[in-house]
Amino acid sequence: MRVFVAGASGAIGTRLVPQLIDAGHDVIGTHKSPGGAERVRALGAEPVALDLLDPRAVRQAVLAAEPDAVIHQATALADMKDFKNFDRTFAQTNRLRREGTDALLAAAREAGVRRFVAQSFASYRNAREGGPVKTEADTLDPTPVPAMRETAAAMRYVDHSVSEAGGIVLRYGAFYGAANDGLIEPVRKRLFPIVGSGAGVTSFVHLDDAAAATVLALEHKLAGVYNVVDDEPAPVREWLPVLAKVLGAKPPRHFPRWLARMLAGEVVVMMGTEARGASNAKAKRELGWTPRYASWRDGFAAAYASLGSAERRISGAAVRTSRSPS
Ligand SMILES: NC(=O)c1ccc[n+]([C@@H]2O[C@H](COP(=O)([O-])OP(=O)(O)OC[C@H]3O[C@@H](n4cnc5c(N)ncnc54)[C@H](OP(=O)(O)O)[C@@H]3O)[C@@H](O)[C@H]2O)c1
Repeated sequence: MRVFVAGASGAIGTRLVPQLIDAGHDVIGTHKSPGGAERVRALGAEPVALDLLDPRAVRQAVLAAEPDAVIHQATALADMKDFKNFDRTFAQTNRLRREGTDALLAAAREAGVRRFVAQSFASYRNAREGGPVKTEADTLDPTPVPAMRETAAAMRYVDHSVSEAGGIVLRYGAFYGAANDGLIEPVRKRLFPIVGSGAGVTSFVHLDDAAAATVLALEHKLAGVYNVVDDEPAPVREWLPVLAKVLGAKPPRHFPRWLARMLAGEVVVMMGTEARGASNAKAKRELGWTPRYASWRDGFAAAYASLGSAERRISGAAVRTSRSPS
């Protein structure tokens, strides 16, 4: 197939393009920033500069590419730091999820594209009641934390508009597996605490596993929503100490809810204490997907072991230096 990947230069795009090519597809990959073209070309795809918020440009790019399939992987999350003003942090991504999806769907329809796959998100969205793990058929949180209302609505928009149009929505878990993952620095600096009971559940997925599920989704004929997460949704109090250890960091701090609320906002409190995880049974059953890293336990170790030993070497050297006589 000729596959048009919007967002080919991002965290998931750069893992996906080589897997698509290995599976025998030709890939046209878009980037937004000027430096992206070389990155996309080096992955083996034909690069196209594109702003997904410009519908005319999207139409032109998709029609010119004459693809059989379109995959929407564009987000704008590189500076994701302020969780207190969550919707503000996600504003551009929310536009990519609404306007970007609309533009790609319209262009795909006009170009006679047969397959459409879009990125969505599985963690922190489920109703905060009942058991710790939810399926695609379970209710999403009917009253999201106010600071993330627009973000929750934008994700629902992708889920609904893409599946209504006959496409496939992949609700990925929280990504990990790259040297610049967003969790690494906060965990190393002990800025990521266990909040309250630490019972909030996260579903993770290794980037390579997320890419593998996406390649399989392309071959799948039925429209719908799929959780692409690993086999072990886990509470923060379980996974965070393991991650800190793998990274060679000190164990995480414990914050009471009120302190976390004051410092980081209600969204962080919800994620740390009430969030529910997601089941991957449907993706396994219907897409024939099996994650290589069934648990974040193995995945963190594989992805970060070398970073952790580097950290231990650096801090060991720092201790020796500070003890050396001047
Ligand atoms: N499920 C998850 O946990 C999840 C999901 C998404 C991202 N993240 C995390 O967020 C961090 C940042 O993600 P990222 O590295 O993928 O970067 P990103 O800034 O989110 O960019 C993703 C892709 O979208 C493209 N893009 C951005 N704005 C666009 C626009 N207006 N029109 C068209 N394309 C646009 C980017 O192009 P350029 O590269 O040219 O800017 C890139 O190809 C990573 O650590 C990642 O793991 C996590």
